[in-house]
Amino acid sequence: MSPALLRICKAPAVRALLIQCACLPLSYALVWLLLRAAVDIDYAGAALLQGGLAAVVSGWRRLARWWLAIQLLFPLALLGGAGLQLPPGLFLTLFLVFLLIFWSTFRTQVPYYPSGRRAWDAVALLLPAGPVRCIDIGSGLGGLVLDLAARRPDGVFSGIELAPLPWLVSRLRAVPVANARFLRGDYESLDFADFDVVFAYLSPAVMTALYEKASAEMRPGSLLLSYEFCIAKKTPDLTIQPEGGGALLYGWHF
Ligand SMILES: C[S@@+](CC[C@H](N)C(=O)[O-])C[C@H]1O[C@@H](n2cnc3c(N)ncnc32)[C@H](O)[C@@H]1O
Repeated sequence: MSPALLRICKAPAVRALLIQCACLPLSYALVWLLLRAAVDIDYAGAALLQGGLAAVVSGWRRLARWWLAIQLLFPLALLGGAGLQLPPGLFLTLFLVFLLIFWSTFRTQVPYYPSGRRAWDAVALLLPAGPVRCIDIGSGLGGLVLDLAARRPDGVFSGIELAPLPWLVSRLRAVPVANARFLRGDYESLDFADFDVVFAYLSPAVMTALYEKASAEMRPGSLLLSYEFCIAKKTPDLTIQPEGGGALLYGWHF
């Protein structure tokens, strides 16, 4: 199996789906046995049985605890969704919209959710004087990059985003802005040595790998910032409470 395919198969969402599929024959057999034994089981009961089996197997396969709840309720949610009898075209449209927004989230474990103005204010205060080069890795709709670009015309502000729709929106928003640019792609393929400040608002799942990449590539004097998520392995040099409250902003000097 190729390393890329192996990585996809190891993603928790893919493992959860495979577990649901693997449990189907067993729950089907159990429902059949229950019906033969004249035990009355309806569709909701069968869905709960399937979800329960999948949750037990997920616990055994050491998926994170929140996956157990998702596994338990997923078949019931499917049943409820089917019961709404919505037009198939609506399902397809919703699926495509979610796909364009969340794209590789099943693999990266980093969904889209925006940071917001309080975080941007805190980041702006930490930018070094002079013509800074700053990147938001996983730039979403581009809010942070465009905000910093407006505050600091002497700097160059970049964003890189995997998901097509947020990237397109940010690209269009940046058309009139000379010092902001957005790339579509994976930040793992970037060289962090090209930047003075790297900002991340990602998820706990990627923080250790992010720090390893940053330590290998970032130049002396540069700064890694992470909103909300700290790095377990490395105590931050800065911990800032943005004005007005909210999550903390962490920083590591190189
Ligand atoms: C929590 S959102 C943060 C959005 C934005 N930085 C902000 O502060 O509002 C994380 C974003 O990172 C993107 N992302 C996740 N993994 C990525 C990767 N490996 N390369 C590029 N973008 C990624 C997701 O698609 C998502 O839009």
